[in-house]
Amino acid sequence: MSNPGETELIHIFKGIPFTTRSSPELLKSLDAFDAREDDVLLVSYPKSGTHWLAGVITKLYNTQITLTSPIEYGDVSRLEELNKLSSKRIIPTHLDYNMLPPNFKNKKCKMIYISRNPKDTAVSMYHYYRDNPNLPTIDTWTAFFDLFLKGDVVCGSWFDHFLSWEEHKNDKNILFLFYEDMKKDLPKIVKEISLFLDLKVSDNDIEDICKKSSFSEMKSNTEKENTDPSHTVCALTSNRKLIFRKGAVGDWKNHFTPKQNQRFEEMFNEKMKLSKM
Ligand code: A3P
Repeated sequence: MSNPGETELIHIFKGIPFTTRSSPELLKSLDAFDAREDDVLLVSYPKSGTHWLAGVITKLYNTQITLTSPIEYGDVSRLEELNKLSSKRIIPTHLDYNMLPPNFKNKKCKMIYISRNPKDTAVSMYHYYRDNPNLPTIDTWTAFFDLFLKGDVVCGSWFDHFLSWEEHKNDKNILFLFYEDMKKDLPKIVKEISLFLDLKVSDNDIEDICKKSSFSEMKSNTEKENTDPSHTVCALTSNRKLIFRKGAVGDWKNHFTPKQNQRFEEMFNEKMKLSKM
């Protein structure tokens, strides 16, 4: 973080770095948030394909739904706004499982967790940091790589985030998805999501949803949309071009040095010892 004053962009809550766009008052109030049984949570570590998944899910419904901005974004008045929504809510969040408002758990709301190869996630996040004035300045990939491994980035450690959710992957109300599986066979994953959400969709609908959810379609459509950041899945930018960058699997190979790859693998193997996946 090179400019003074940039420290004001980030604050730490319960050991996790958040941007100051998530006010401490809001974060403190989340515990009391009133979930509804039919809320659907769209959960991810940043840069894992949240917008893609949101694009698919919103196309699956033919009843009225509202895709909100992440629950942890804004000031405390945000929760009141969410309470006032009369339609079904699709609520994105980057929160760790342990920080999730307990009401979502108690009411067994449906939650879809999307994960992505953390190497590609790190690269995607690096570009996002570089191009986004709402995040601290990053001078080099090497500097960002170190911060990412330490978990000294927005939303904290990828490993801790993944592990906190993975522990609940067999809960009936949680569906675990992978970005790479969506790239490989989107129709299969769309079908899986529709079954999980109890939505009836025909094979033709699925084909149509997949066409409309391709990287190129989403990129060109989103550039035409309303760009108010408080009403989008990514609450940190109004520049939609930052979100639809490359949409590829394996871009990490263009950034990681062999030594960085080795360090990453060591950390991965150590941290993921606790993983059952
Ligand atoms: P890259 O930066 O690697 O291109 P999020 O929505 O969680 O912020 O994740 C953003 C990442 O998902 C970006 O990755 C973006 O390009 C990718 N993405 C968004 N829409 C996509 C789509 N329709 N198909 C494939 N990847 C997509």
